[in-house]
Amino acid sequence: PSARITVDPHFAIGPIQRKLFGGFVEHLGRHVYDGIYEPGHETADAEGFRQDVIDLVKELGVSTIRYPGGNFVSGFRWEDSVGPVEDRPRRLDLAWHSTETNEVGLHEFSGWLDKVGSDLMMAVNLGTRGTLEAIDLLEYSNIRSGTALSDQRVANGKADPFDVRMWCLGNEMDGPWQLGHRSADDYGKVASMAAKGMRQLDPSIELVVCGSSSAHMPTFGEWERTVLTHTYEDVDYISCHAYYEEKNGDLASFLASAVDMDGFIETVVATADHVGAVRGSKKKINISFDEWNVWYIERFHGVDKIEGIDNWPVAPRLLEDIYSVADAVVFGNLMISLLKHADRVTSASLAQLVNVIAPIMTEPGGPAWKQTTFFPFSVTSRLAQGDALQLKLDAPTYSTEVYGEVPLVDAVATHDAETGRSAVFLVNRSQTEAITITADVSALGDVSVLETHAVWDEDVYAKNTLEDRERVTAKTNDTAVVADGTLTVTLPPVSWTAIALG
Ligand code: AHR
Repeated sequence: PSARITVDPHFAIGPIQRKLFGGFVEHLGRHVYDGIYEPGHETADAEGFRQDVIDLVKELGVSTIRYPGGNFVSGFRWEDSVGPVEDRPRRLDLAWHSTETNEVGLHEFSGWLDKVGSDLMMAVNLGTRGTLEAIDLLEYSNIRSGTALSDQRVANGKADPFDVRMWCLGNEMDGPWQLGHRSADDYGKVASMAAKGMRQLDPSIELVVCGSSSAHMPTFGEWERTVLTHTYEDVDYISCHAYYEEKNGDLASFLASAVDMDGFIETVVATADHVGAVRGSKKKINISFDEWNVWYIERFHGVDKIEGIDNWPVAPRLLEDIYSVADAVVFGNLMISLLKHADRVTSASLAQLVNVIAPIMTEPGGPAWKQTTFFPFSVTSRLAQGDALQLKLDAPTYSTEVYGEVPLVDAVATHDAETGRSAVFLVNRSQTEAITITADVSALGDVSVLETHAVWDEDVYAKNTLEDRERVTAKTNDTAVVADGTLTVTLPPVSWTAIALG
């Protein structure tokens, strides 16, 4: 089979924001403790952070990092996580049935962000707390000095404000599992109140209101409409969260997961614009896709769950999915979906970063290594610069049980007018056939192939494990060539490919 695309820099979807390549660190399982922080490790620095992990996070290329949750944040008292470490309380984390030691808190995490070169995106607790605590945390974080809380921060060793730019108004408040879960109407009122208060303190911050925790929630659509009706003028973004997994051996549908993400984004944009129209507002609400990934949630409910009144472990092994080549192909396709909507998805966070549904794994006292999903993220984050481009794509289709008839190929391109460089990102969803792509790139001028990166394997379920840490790496695709304004490349079955042109 073959497919055709046309790449033309005149057809820009919108500028690609660096915030699209954000990550997410939750106090969950071995993410913080025994993940990024392990004082006894041979690579640990003076603050106890693993240098091998810092190096991998830098190579991954994550911009903003959402923190400290996730479900965790809905039971979090931020005051516990600042001040002398020896005075910090150990607390029950009800979300993950664990003990939070608070050894790593706001100051330590902010220091780690400086080491990896990422910005903080903070979530406030609107599950079990409210406006006052949100304002307090903002004062502690963003006011220079001269007030009780800002002076407390200075006394705790941070003279300059943290100056946190982006704030999430709670987490997944539509989910019955969420501490403090409430109706869209009730949450919308709380979020509006908190947002107004926070903006009274610092009008320059950006605010994200909670959308749905999946497009398959029973309240999806109506949740967004109601919440935005309460908060339209108070916030900049509404969040989307989506996780995908192969279910019942249906790889064909799993490979088409990005079709679902496309529909999710377009529905939320339509809903937000509908609320704007009803209000007669010129303002546009954008999407912060602040949790997305492949996640075998079914396995979590079956295997990982911790229970028992006397059983609250510190840093248990939770949500430690080991990703396959097929998972990485779907993952790369989800990034294509985000880029295809770069005009309205202007912020996103891969959930998560280390050990917990993560592109980076660690073993206590042992190595750190890359999962299969590391490669599409690091390559896309580095090569997708400038504008995302609308492609004319003609591809054969295949039928899936979950999504019906869908294209065998998905693709997006990017173009950076400053450097003159472009990139094309492609997936082949066929399990049996290689597909040859013919791309008209004549509008890009006299370009040639600069780099190719591909994830595919004879065994689509190949994985990197502690025992075999480099079983899967990014390969080149040497079939990619430009001649007479036409790029041709053959994509192996179940593959993700990036091609840099310039
Ligand atoms: O990323 C894991 C969990 O998924 C987060 O804590 C929660 O927000 C979502 O349900």
